[in-house]
Amino acid sequence: MNLADLNKIARAMVAPGKGLLAADESSGTIKKRFDAIGVESTETTRRDYREMLFRSREAMSNAISGVILYDETIWQDAKDGTPLIRLIEEAGAIPGIKVDEGTQALPNCPGELITVGLDRLAERLPKYYERGARFAKWRAVIDIGSGIPSMAAISVNAHALARYAALCQQAQIVPIVEPEVLMDGDHDIDRCVEVTTRVLNKTFQELRIQRVALEGMILKPNMAISGKTSKTQASVGDVAEKTVRMLKNCVPASVPGIAFLSGGQSDEEATAHLDAMNKIGGLPWPLTFSYGRALQAAPQKAWAGKAENVAAGQHAFTHRARMNSLAASGTWTAEQEKAA
Ligand code: 13P
Repeated sequence: MNLADLNKIARAMVAPGKGLLAADESSGTIKKRFDAIGVESTETTRRDYREMLFRSREAMSNAISGVILYDETIWQDAKDGTPLIRLIEEAGAIPGIKVDEGTQALPNCPGELITVGLDRLAERLPKYYERGARFAKWRAVIDIGSGIPSMAAISVNAHALARYAALCQQAQIVPIVEPEVLMDGDHDIDRCVEVTTRVLNKTFQELRIQRVALEGMILKPNMAISGKTSKTQASVGDVAEKTVRMLKNCVPASVPGIAFLSGGQSDEEATAHLDAMNKIGGLPWPLTFSYGRALQAAPQKAWAGKAENVAAGQHAFTHRARMNSLAASGTWTAEQEKAA
């Protein structure tokens, strides 16, 4: 493992004013997104849609540091035969790959999940590297509910994240470590902080035990945020202040950067929260975005599967990418949001 090179990639992933596009929806998830806009999900429509995003040159070159791909996409070619991964590289962004294989029910822990995909990971990683992937992603899912999360769920998911991260670094690939505490439920923001703190502490403990080099990884956490159906919704200021405080308590300064997931927040909320955190400033790491839904909901709606809407889809994507780029440097304003 060459740690200096891993660190260089990790720092490029969180370069000033740039963040990650999470376009790694599994075939099941992208089908759900396409169903919502009345588009049939086929290998071709998935290709056309992602090609539209990757050919959004302004967004890709100015606001996007890297793209997380799904296995199908990394091997696909654009309509003109150019590998999709080349389009990303040509725009100056870094290709990455989601390597977990989804979740399974965790035995003895009703309602809880364990992320799987470790078994053949050591063999798969060099193939992705050869294709051009320089970073990877693995998502663990922790749910908040009555009596959960259990210590078992937190522990086995943290263990798997560290196993994955160590294998990635061995293959010269930067691991994005993503322990996602879901925002589903009626819990308040303080319960989210309490659970996320436990999850982050356990995750870093496992990373240390398994000798993962913190300088060669990126953390992708959830924000400290109220449950979706909570009666008390925390303000933007509260989310920013509590998230920053929580991260300062849990994340070593040697981690090169933190890139949040959007997790079901509205487009504008995800942008406003990130911006407010960066306006607080004085942080030991860059804070940026690694958004899936909050970057893609608008372009999906504008595109709606029609070739004549490609420019409109690219326009919508470019706007969201630009707004999040401003948020990553703490210079976003509601006026700029509306100016588009
Ligand atoms: P969302 O931003 O839609 O939560 O997706 C990010 C992601 O990669 C989840 O694993």
